[in-house]
Amino acid sequence: MQDALIDASKIILKSNYLIALTGAGISAESGIPIFRGKDGLWRKYRPEELATLEAFRRNPKLVWEWYSWRINLILGAKPNPAHYALVELEQLGLLKFLITQNVDDLHERAGSKKLVKLHGDILTVICTSCDYRNKISEPPRDIPPKCPRCGGLLRPGVVWFGESIPPDALERAFAEAEKADAILVIGTSGVVMPAGAIPNVVKGHGGYVIEINVNESAITNIADCFCKGKAGEILPKIVELVKSMMGD
Ligand code: OAD
Repeated sequence: MQDALIDASKIILKSNYLIALTGAGISAESGIPIFRGKDGLWRKYRPEELATLEAFRRNPKLVWEWYSWRINLILGAKPNPAHYALVELEQLGLLKFLITQNVDDLHERAGSKKLVKLHGDILTVICTSCDYRNKISEPPRDIPPKCPRCGGLLRPGVVWFGESIPPDALERAFAEAEKADAILVIGTSGVVMPAGAIPNVVKGHGGYVIEINVNESAITNIADCFCKGKAGEILPKIVELVKSMMGD
């Protein structure tokens, strides 16, 4: 394992334009459940059965109950050492951009500045009937919540299965991937497109792929360096190694 960490640190130091792609695994150690696998279940439902427009149309109350549960978990959670390690890499001038699939706000709370949230923001509500959108700091009191402007149904400000990522976020993420000569891929299964294709873009023009995950993922076969373990343990170690190599 130490060899993989050293390889990762060398790639980071040699890079001219390092970016990162994060998924639910980076927030797991903050107590926010990942989506896939047995730990991802809420009551008896799989996220794929709840995070769709069809599910919301069928049963907005159920979908909002799930989101309220997740909003409460997120509000009660704190960024973990993996989030802070990415902030440190940004402040060292090494990490140029962060692309996250997470709808929580832990990267922002940790202090990451240059980032795009591909799958939206769970602390935003948007109206399904008019263009009302607002930030929230607690789960809606009445479920399902209604739009204060038009009385329409409010929905969470996230991207659901079958929906498109907002074009500006998508364009920015892929433009960053085109520029990158190295990418840190952290805590994602890599199976949800188009986010899962971002490491391939970097690899496709000769960039390096460093992966940090507790298990192998859909990305592992293209990884130049696979660091197996918890992001909150691995990333701070990599940052320490990078800093010690910078001093050499
Ligand atoms: P997944 O739940 O699919 O995958 C989480 C990944 O994190 C898995 O590969 C785990 O092995 C890994 N993991 C778990 N704990 C970890 C830890 N402590 N350190 C490092 N890795 C760890 O989550 P995502 O890949 O983020 O989309 O899922 C992608 C998208 O699917 C989500 O953004 C969401 C979901 O449906 C939308 O909501 C649109």
